Amino acid sequence: MKIMFYKKVDKIKEPLSAIGYGCWGISGGDFWSGTTDESSIKTIQTAIKNGVNFFDVAPVYGFGHAEEILGKSIKGNRSKIFIASKCGLVWDDDRNISNNLSPDSLEREINASLKRLDVDYIDLYQCHWPDPQTDIKNTMKKLNELKDEGLIKYIGLTNFSIEEAKMAMYFGEISSMQGLYNMLERNPDSYHNIPLEYKTEKEVFPFVKKNGIAFFPYSPLFQGLLTDSFGESHNFDKNDVRNANPKLNSPLFDKYYDKSLKIREIAKELGKPTSQLAINWLVQKDEITSIIAGAQNTEQLLQNIEALTWNIPEETNEKLEKVLEE
Ligand SMILES: NC(=O)c1ccc[n+]([C@@H]2O[C@H](COP(=O)([O-])OP(=O)(O)OC[C@H]3O[C@@H](n4cnc5c(N)ncnc54)[C@H](OP(=O)(O)O)[C@@H]3O)[C@@H](O)[C@H]2O)c1
Repeated sequence: MKIMFYKKVDKIKEPLSAIGYGCWGISGGDFWSGTTDESSIKTIQTAIKNGVNFFDVAPVYGFGHAEEILGKSIKGNRSKIFIASKCGLVWDDDRNISNNLSPDSLEREINASLKRLDVDYIDLYQCHWPDPQTDIKNTMKKLNELKDEGLIKYIGLTNFSIEEAKMAMYFGEISSMQGLYNMLERNPDSYHNIPLEYKTEKEVFPFVKKNGIAFFPYSPLFQGLLTDSFGESHNFDKNDVRNANPKLNSPLFDKYYDKSLKIREIAKELGKPTSQLAINWLVQKDEITSIIAGAQNTEQLLQNIEALTWNIPEETNEKLEKVLEE
């Protein structure tokens, strides 16, 4: 029995699954721990069978690897799938990453992504981070051309401030925004070591609502902290990207870990996994379209989807709000 349901915004024709799938974790062993390509493909195919249609990916995830694995996994199911890839983070032979939203770079990037995904078009093409070196007018002009050529269907922005988004919208239609958002990071100042120029709940929510555009929260489970399996003395593998998240490592970690334990306690009282409480807290918000949770295997994926079988009781919402505001 399928339990998935779908959300719709004015600027995107297709209804999108309330729970999507984030592909950063399928980048390969050099970036996250505990997954193989075989298991990633199985997880994505299980997601599709369970009604997930929104897949967020980026060229830079595994330096092309995540797009290739997503492409392999969706064979035979293209028409059911909404692919949201990105542009604007490029890398050199030594894998040094830089921002580039220039038209020439976009031309190279779209061709490479289509090839890796082995598809004719990408549904949503998102500018991954702002590029201060490129005039957004030129970026949008190029993205509009890609739309006219049928290589992309919609344009989205991730990690853009409201001012930057308004500027982009001046030159073309923006259909979505994506940003850091979870129970413990509602208006965060930074992501890993990068300062954020937007306040998700305070600024981005009213903006997407007013403009009828989608919002996709990333790191909805705080990269695993908002689950029952995250230990106080966790040890990430040497290459795990979470080593670069100061909030998951001392000295900042203790503050977030203490809060996560209080949330776990509330989930326990309900007899539900913490991951489901964290997901449901997001699902109930109108501004949120598809939650892009990562899942390293089918067990995690199915547990997360099962969140849709129940709602947070009103008194629990009030209790949660008190804990989160403390
Ligand atoms: N636009 C951007 O700049 C940006 C930035 C970051 C992420 N994203 C997107 O957002 C997606 C999700 O974000 P994220 O990967 O940073 O964090 P996340 O979704 O908050 O956390 C995912 C991790 O949580 C753990 N997990 C998931 N379900 C679980 C369960 N049921 N029980 C126990 N553990 C569970 C897994 O890690 P372990 O099992 O290894 O602990 C998993 O890899 C990414 O894949 C990417 O598509 C976008």
